[in-house]
Amino acid sequence: IKIFVPRDSTALALGADSVANAIAAEAAKRGIAVQLIRNGSRGLMWLEPLVEVETTRGRVGYGPIDETDIASLFEADFHLGGNHARALGLVEEIAYLKRQERLTFARIGVIDPLSLDDYLAHGGYRGLQRALTLGAAEIVQTVTDSGLRGRGGAAFPTGVKWKTVLDTPAMQKYIVCNADEGDSGTFADRLTMEGDPFMLIEGMTIAGLAVGATQGYIYVRSEYPHSIATLNEAIRAAYDHAYLGSNVRASGQRFDLEVRKAAGAYICGEETALLESLEGKRGIVRAKPPLPAIKGLFGQPTVINNVLSLATVPLILDKGAQIYRDYGMGRSRGTLPIQLAGNIKRGGLIEKAFGVTLREILYDYGGGTTSGRPIKAVQVGGPLGAYLPESQWDTPLDYEAFAGLWAVLGHGGIVVHDDSTDMAKLARYAMEFCAIESCGKCTPCRIGSTRGTEVIDKILAGQERHKQIPLLRDLCDTMLHGSLCAMGGMTPYPVLSALKHFPEDFGQPASGQS
Ligand code: NAI
Ligand code: SF4
Repeated sequence: IKIFVPRDSTALALGADSVANAIAAEAAKRGIAVQLIRNGSRGLMWLEPLVEVETTRGRVGYGPIDETDIASLFEADFHLGGNHARALGLVEEIAYLKRQERLTFARIGVIDPLSLDDYLAHGGYRGLQRALTLGAAEIVQTVTDSGLRGRGGAAFPTGVKWKTVLDTPAMQKYIVCNADEGDSGTFADRLTMEGDPFMLIEGMTIAGLAVGATQGYIYVRSEYPHSIATLNEAIRAAYDHAYLGSNVRASGQRFDLEVRKAAGAYICGEETALLESLEGKRGIVRAKPPLPAIKGLFGQPTVINNVLSLATVPLILDKGAQIYRDYGMGRSRGTLPIQLAGNIKRGGLIEKAFGVTLREILYDYGGGTTSGRPIKAVQVGGPLGAYLPESQWDTPLDYEAFAGLWAVLGHGGIVVHDDSTDMAKLARYAMEFCAIESCGKCTPCRIGSTRGTEVIDKILAGQERHKQIPLLRDLCDTMLHGSLCAMGGMTPYPVLSALKHFPEDFGQPASGQS
């Protein structure tokens, strides 16, 4: 009997280890032979720990489970798929999961993340096999044709980035995976690393073949110890089976890969600060140009991509560019792993083709707020993303549609706030966040964010609002146009959107909307 208990950080934080131990103990007591598999999380967070049992009908789920449920689960023959108060039926039939279009996340939660055999049995390494039959330029062309754009947030076409590196001659090139997932409310990179690490390793290996890079680094958020451990174990297995090393699957081509623990600073997720940090220096932003694609890690041409961008590549090589391209809308092709968090009943991972609306995500998937109060605002795209009021929730998730609203999709994180939220306080939080996390290289961000926090404090205290609000707008204008990177350049997004859509929280008449 196969029983699955997730091993990812969320499930562990909610007691998955105790649940797994209790299942093993109870099964032994009852003389029932069970095989416990520690899978990744399916991303249905409100059901974690979600225990699954393999039956002839498919995998039956029970959740959320804690160790005190185990005796009653066995009483109800859950190991045979029996009925119980916590039974959820067939996991694949849970509406939240069934209505998704899981391409990148197809295996996550299904397989044992550290079993190479499981990975291979579920289509793993087929993309690499195909890549090994192609020339470098053909691999790059396939990625370009798929329409894949950088999933870290900036949405730059991945194939174009790779072509720049391919076309830049050098003795040494690098592939760097940006796994410094720092945006508020995001966890898709973590779920990927902890639930399907070989997919990322395969994607990076393909990237190496595509641009002629022989060394890769995964720069992982220091707050993700389980991701680091899982990746290191998977990398060891990949070396043992010649999927990494001096002769990748007998092709004669080399690709080496290492994990690096990040420095614990938000700004180290900015690509040039990340490269500085990887080189052993303090994470300070470099001016661009030169682009990392031309002069990146140790001054060499470097592909630097987000986890999800690289993890999607094996699928594109395996199934073909067109299949991926067929999903989506406009110039946003394929699917977006959306992360729903904050004050929401059913938070989790929702992979959908671009084009789904925020309203569908908030209500059809999320089920409204946990507090039961109306949703007031949603922040999309991390702490530097705009706050969207209800009038904008019918916008399709699409990079260009969001840009048209003066908002960003970013890395796909959505944080929900109910009507008890004071938006002026959230605007202050954005400024303070920038003041704390600024690398300090440029004046508008370093000093502007501190002055911005002070100005909002005065507005909150009701002091000279008629003077402070124009001052805040001026300051945001300077930060927007004068900052070197997105940290200072995007902090005005949450601040100005809060001011625009919720003027009453700043002591302004609601009719003052501009
Ligand atoms: P960017 O627009 O400057 O660059 C995008 C990427 O394209 C970079 O890798 C750049 O080097 C590359 N690029 C641009 N032109 C190129 C060319 N001609 N050839 C080859 N490569 C080229 O954006 P940036 O500053 O890298 O990222 C900002 C975004 O990061 C924001 O939109 C935000 O959503 C996101 N972000 C994500 C976070 C996360 O946790 N995932 C945290 C903070 C911000
Ligand atoms: Fe550093 Fe801020 Fe300037 Fe970016 S905008 S380079 S984080 S000071």
